[in-house]
Amino acid sequence: MNLIMKMLAAPATVLALWAVSAQAATTDDIAKRLAPVGQVCVQGQECKGMEVAVAAGGAGGAKTPKDVIAKHCNACHGTGLLGAPKIGDTAAWKERADHQGGLDGILAKAITGINAMPPKGTCADCSDEDLKAAIQEMSGLK
Ligand code: HEC
Repeated sequence: MNLIMKMLAAPATVLALWAVSAQAATTDDIAKRLAPVGQVCVQGQECKGMEVAVAAGGAGGAKTPKDVIAKHCNACHGTGLLGAPKIGDTAAWKERADHQGGLDGILAKAITGINAMPPKGTCADCSDEDLKAAIQEMSGLK
């Protein structure tokens, strides 16, 4: 295989594996909707597919942490998909918080995205407070 072919093939393989693992772990519609969003969205850029996630989350308005988690975070954090810290596993969340300078540190990573964790966890219309409340609820951290 020449170099160009390798350069083209590697990211395609990663994306394919990503999509397969994201969909294999749950038959939930949400995960299917999230898979393309997680692959193509970069914060600050136009994002095809994000409209769907936004529509699923409702047009603004008050959100409870449980709503946000159920619609956006649970697909990965419910099962620990792709290495996501699991809901209720306070020790795992605390270890991350300790490395990132506390709750606000992991909040900042949740906003920008980190590795397989998509920006804002796909909740495009979540405020920083919405995300923080969801993180507190999932982690048990104060
Ligand atoms: C597509 C799967 C996916 C979704 C959806 C998702 N996450 Fe994550 N999240 C991850 C993964 C994977 C990691 C671990 C990333 C790593 O450290 O490699 C992670 C890590 C995190 C972290 C820790 C960041 C750090 O600094 O260690 C926070 C906080 C977080 N997610 C919040 C959320 C919130 C809040 C939502 C919902 C609004 C959400 N996530 C939705 C996959 C997801």
